[in-house]
Amino acid sequence: MSTTSSTIRRVPAVRARAMPADTNPAGDIFGGWLMSQMDVAGEITARQRTRTRVVTVAVNAMTFHKPVHVGDVVSCYTVIEHIGRTSVTVRIEAVAMRQDSGKEVPVTEGVFVYVAVDGEGQPTPVPQPA
Ligand SMILES: CC(C)(COP(=O)(O)OP(=O)(O)OC[C@H]1O[C@@H](n2cnc3c(N)ncnc32)[C@H](O)[C@@H]1OP(=O)(O)O)[C@@H](O)C(=O)NCCC(=O)NCCS
Repeated sequence: MSTTSSTIRRVPAVRARAMPADTNPAGDIFGGWLMSQMDVAGEITARQRTRTRVVTVAVNAMTFHKPVHVGDVVSCYTVIEHIGRTSVTVRIEAVAMRQDSGKEVPVTEGVFVYVAVDGEGQPTPVPQPA
């Protein structure tokens, strides 16, 4: 059976179950936990392109659309939006699969910027594609 390119694009960079320890005082999942999952997803995606260590320099246009509940499985989908001299900009969408219904709900989106760095933590050029 062949795999279409759209199927490949829908493979999440990160998938994680929201646990009780990740809740805020209201009982929903803490936004910082979600941002952390997204940051890891963006880092994995950026690093696939840079082949060197990257650090997060900015988080832009972060929007929380819907709450995440305990037990939801959160998938972070990524796409590279822009490649600069030393930076890679990644758009990230998080989708929660509700524990009870299995329904998939877009919960968060954001644009994360990563910078390729050398061993001293200084910006280093993103390699051109071969
Ligand atoms: C990321 C860091 C190495 C950049 O160092 P710097 O001396 O500011 O580097 P530069 O000014 O040369 O900018 C490097 C790139 O980042 C981009 N950049 C810098 N600040 C930015 C911002 N606020 N938003 C978007 N992009 C930004 C620049 O446009 C440049 O991209 P380009 O080369 O593709 O044009 C430095 O700021 C740093 O170490 N920050 C802390 C990172 C960190 O601890 N992150 C959290 C944990 S991973």
